[in-house]
Amino acid sequence: MPLALLPHYTVRALGPDDRSALAVTFERLSAESRRRRFLGPKPRLSDRELTFLTDVDQVRQVALAAIDERDGSIVAVARYHAWADRDDVADVAVAVIDEWQGCRLGTRLARQVIQHARANGFTRLTGTTYWDNRPARRMLRTLGFNTVAFDGPLLDMEMRLAE
Ligand SMILES: CC(C)(COP(=O)(O)OP(=O)(O)OC[C@H]1O[C@@H](n2cnc3c(N)ncnc32)[C@H](O)[C@@H]1OP(=O)(O)O)[C@@H](O)C(=O)NCCC(=O)NCCS
Repeated sequence: MPLALLPHYTVRALGPDDRSALAVTFERLSAESRRRRFLGPKPRLSDRELTFLTDVDQVRQVALAAIDERDGSIVAVARYHAWADRDDVADVAVAVIDEWQGCRLGTRLARQVIQHARANGFTRLTGTTYWDNRPARRMLRTLGFNTVAFDGPLLDMEMRLAE
């Protein structure tokens, strides 16, 4: 979609009431976008995964949703989840439905998530993407991530947050 045609959207926290809406958003991702987001084939989301993705405490895990003002649907989600074994490190992931990709929404939403991570005391963020996922790589670079490791088809990227 050309940038000038990006419909109005609002941003709000994702929560437990969003299970059905998030399932619909997942259906609006192409097979390739799902593979890129979940780092492997992902034909469907299980009930358990829907719970994991929506039951966020907005501190250790933050998930922000972009809402299409025309119909209230979720068109993108950016999130971080704290690492299980590190209090100050979190992993970032973003998904924008295909129809809305390429309009800066992913970068903008991820930037807001990073602001939350900083405010919540995280000092380092990680992100993993396929090396051939150019939009994700570029988005993460723009946000301040650097590549720290190659792991087969995957790139591990990191960004330090100012104290
Ligand atoms: C990766 C993703 C989140 C980026 O969000 P987006 O809104 O589509 O991307 P943006 O418009 O913010 O653009 C990000 C960068 O990718 C580039 N880009 C966007 N679409 C592109 C395309 N089709 N081909 C090449 N580069 C592209 C943009 O030019 C921009 O780079 P720049 O800042 O150097 O110009 C989104 O494409 C997506 O959801 N993809 C599927 C899931 C996924 O890959 N998630 C990443 C896991 S971390």
